[in-house]
Amino acid sequence: MNSKFTVANFKESKKTGRKISMLTAYDYPTAKILDEAGVDSILVGDSLGMVVLGYEDTTRVTMDDMVHHVKAVSRGAKRALVISDMPFLSYHTGKHDSVRNAGRLVLEGGCKAVKLEGGEEIVEDVKAIISAGIPVIGHLGYTPQSINVFGGHKAQGKDLETARKIYRDALLLQKAGVFAIVLECVPYKVAEFISKRLDIPTIGIGSGPDCDGQVLVIQDLTGMFRDFTPKHVKKYLDMGSAIEGAVKSYIDEVQKGVFPTEKNSFIVDEAVVKELEKTNFDI
Ligand code: KIV
Repeated sequence: MNSKFTVANFKESKKTGRKISMLTAYDYPTAKILDEAGVDSILVGDSLGMVVLGYEDTTRVTMDDMVHHVKAVSRGAKRALVISDMPFLSYHTGKHDSVRNAGRLVLEGGCKAVKLEGGEEIVEDVKAIISAGIPVIGHLGYTPQSINVFGGHKAQGKDLETARKIYRDALLLQKAGVFAIVLECVPYKVAEFISKRLDIPTIGIGSGPDCDGQVLVIQDLTGMFRDFTPKHVKKYLDMGSAIEGAVKSYIDEVQKGVFPTEKNSFIVDEAVVKELEKTNFDI
């Protein structure tokens, strides 16, 4: 597909059974590579906090951080649908703030949709943002902004009560008008059950093969982030080791005088050099 991937294509994919591919990106060159490779959607996730900014979790990421990175990604993505996470506390202080913050991500950042974590408790914010003309994608299961409530990175929906809550929240979000829902670290049988009962697509991360699409953090997929590797990740590349190897070679060549050579520099007329040698500034 060469034309832009839109919110309508999410809905259409659900109908046709075509799986949706989504990856995160936080900068222009990465967004450009993902876009040219043909990914359907690019999420500027607040995982930015860990994999780019070096925080322990996502709760330190600000609206300004998000706007800054969404701008860069939007410039790199020509075809993929760019979605921005709304960061911690940017949609918890009233509908007015929620709409204003979502608006900043679209107006200043250039994204086409926003993602919010949570279910019943954020339904009114979701409705207000959609009413303002901004498409919303939900996020249920393990929701990283609530890490301090969960007490760590833990799969959700493993018992009947929490599985039912995720299902109910998914139905409420669908009714509120979201165009898709990310299901993070939900047991695959529960994710399959929910996916089969929704009219909108589910995008899984650690939630098995029966979701309608998949998302991964690009730094995990490429092996760029080496602090820890979550269970759900498949590493397609070991870019961290490749970069480390290249940097070691560079250091070695600089120390031995192998790099740079004249070929990595520029030519000047001999006459200029001769005159330069005669120059003597009295400074
Ligand atoms: O912030 C993020 O990268 C996300 C994905 C893991 C879904 O929310």
